[in-house]
Amino acid sequence: MSTLKINSLKAYRKAYQESIKDPEAFWSRQAETFVWKKKWKKTLDWDFQKPDVKWFIGGKLNITENCLDRHLAERGGETALIWEPNDPSQKFKTYTYQALYEAVCQCANALKANGVKKGDRICFYMPMVPELTIGILACARIGAIHSVVFAGFSATALADRIKDASCSMVICSDYNARGAKNIPVKAVVDEALKMGCKSVKTVLVHQNTGEKVRWKKSRDKWWHEELSRRRKTCKATAMDAEDVLFILYTSGSTGKPKGVVHTCGGYMVYTCFSFQNVFQYEQGDVYWCTADIGWITGHSYIVYGPLLAGATTIMSEGVPTYPDAGRFWHICEKHKVNQFYTAPTAIRALMAQGDHWPTHYDLSELKVLGTVGEPINEEAWHWYNEKIGKGKCPIVDTWWQTETGGIMIAGLGDISPIKPTYAGLPLPGIQACLVDAEGNEITGNDQEGLLCIKFPWPSMIRTTYGDHERCRNVYFSAFEDKYFTGDGARRDKDGLYRIIGRVDDVINVSGHRMGTAEVENAINEHPEVIESAVVGYPHEIKGQGIYAYVIVNAAVKDEDRFRKEVLKVVTREIGPIAKPDRIQLVSGLPKTRSGKIMRRILRKIASGDTKNLGDISTLLNPEVVEAVKKGALA
Ligand code: PRX
Repeated sequence: MSTLKINSLKAYRKAYQESIKDPEAFWSRQAETFVWKKKWKKTLDWDFQKPDVKWFIGGKLNITENCLDRHLAERGGETALIWEPNDPSQKFKTYTYQALYEAVCQCANALKANGVKKGDRICFYMPMVPELTIGILACARIGAIHSVVFAGFSATALADRIKDASCSMVICSDYNARGAKNIPVKAVVDEALKMGCKSVKTVLVHQNTGEKVRWKKSRDKWWHEELSRRRKTCKATAMDAEDVLFILYTSGSTGKPKGVVHTCGGYMVYTCFSFQNVFQYEQGDVYWCTADIGWITGHSYIVYGPLLAGATTIMSEGVPTYPDAGRFWHICEKHKVNQFYTAPTAIRALMAQGDHWPTHYDLSELKVLGTVGEPINEEAWHWYNEKIGKGKCPIVDTWWQTETGGIMIAGLGDISPIKPTYAGLPLPGIQACLVDAEGNEITGNDQEGLLCIKFPWPSMIRTTYGDHERCRNVYFSAFEDKYFTGDGARRDKDGLYRIIGRVDDVINVSGHRMGTAEVENAINEHPEVIESAVVGYPHEIKGQGIYAYVIVNAAVKDEDRFRKEVLKVVTREIGPIAKPDRIQLVSGLPKTRSGKIMRRILRKIASGDTKNLGDISTLLNPEVVEAVKKGALA
């Protein structure tokens, strides 16, 4: 049984209407296609003011029984997971559904033997190896909550996340093979655990490259030793539909990253439903999403969505340009990929390497191309369409967020209308709307506004871990009875949405979401910094680059040395992904009379638009604007 498969525009319109008229009946029908240990009593309860959203109330399930067990009879011998290593001369690995099931059960038994219980938080800090997928499913099997931290984050960032969720175990690899580099992973965990992570009792280490690591006997254990000889079956723990499945940290406009909480039932139903329809996945197809499991895209559309749908999903360890810029296309040819899902920043980077790379490979199996994470510019869209899709593959531009759990606005394969740079129509069940600054809904088409969602959907955020008030404040307090996305959008005359970008202090660098305040806090750690302000600016490859304006004290004589040190500090505090592209030393920052930094002006200067700064006469210090303009870096 599968969730509704929409195969025509008419069917989409019908499903959409049904989902709006009677959302409970619509989602109840989808949920019935899964294996439940106990059926739910009520489909939905919600109150956006608190917020309190519950789906499939009273229902009991285990998501891994739906990802694995239920497929065994019919397709136990079919490929669930293909792992493509960083080094193309190394053999790729495949796991059938049966093999993946056994590996997950073994790992679940190993976790139990190490004292892991339902509700415990387990942190993953791992490269893209199959053991990451196996490990998170093993957690889900026994009701432990996984918190995956992208392995590019620094020890400090990792420690913050471990402490916030009081994780009892960290699962990591020895090293991360990435392009020509071998990046230490275990060493970063060791360093993080020195930063007051008292809750961690065990570190489970997967041997990836096999190079030497430091060992703390009382704490560290090898993955292969702990898993060997464990039984290959493990009873799946009955989870309440609203029990937490995972926590995933993401950046906001203020403060430290917050732990977005997703729960079992609704997340399961929605990721499967959206996967099947957006990618128009058919049994036997090979699907590849190039994201990292450290981000939501990897959670929902490498692991859960595809496995729930019984698909063959590829995980790749390496980078798009190693050993050369043809790697993506080589992998597509090698595994006969039918659906390919990546980020605009990767498309732009590969486009810049020249048109000849894709021509060396057979891409004729491709049926659907997807993008995610940031707006796709027209030039990249056309390149993707012509050079990769050969004009015959629909491009599904999928708009969604860590908080939404699944794809919200996107084309459904070639079924719904597609327009370059437009994400398109909302999926069934998604009541998207635009509001003005006062919160009035903007009805009618051909309009621009702030993007909100006015009715719950199954995979939505339930809370921010350990701080429910923050969840209310960030997403549900801006506009009454609406979830506010933080994005601005345009709706064209046919109702298609185009995402313009964030309207808050969040920037999107190479599809990685970053809070400007977070980067400023890191820069301010440098002892010679007095104050800093960070904004995004248009960047040809990354979409947005990071522009930092910094006021320094008299100790700074050598600006180059200072800039290098700032990059080091940011790498230490957050990770290399947060390094500013430009650092301009300034004597002052434009401020309002109440002392707030006028980022609007700084954004304009950073983007090279120094002429239309608007009215600056009301500033506390209008004179600094000229100086900032003069020193602007291009
Ligand atoms: O600004 C939007 C942008 O990415 C933000 C969400 O980032 P994150 O939680 O890291 O999730 C990214 C992957 C789902 C959004 O608020 N964004 C995401 N997809 C698109 C997009 N902007 C434009 N077009 C998209 N397709």
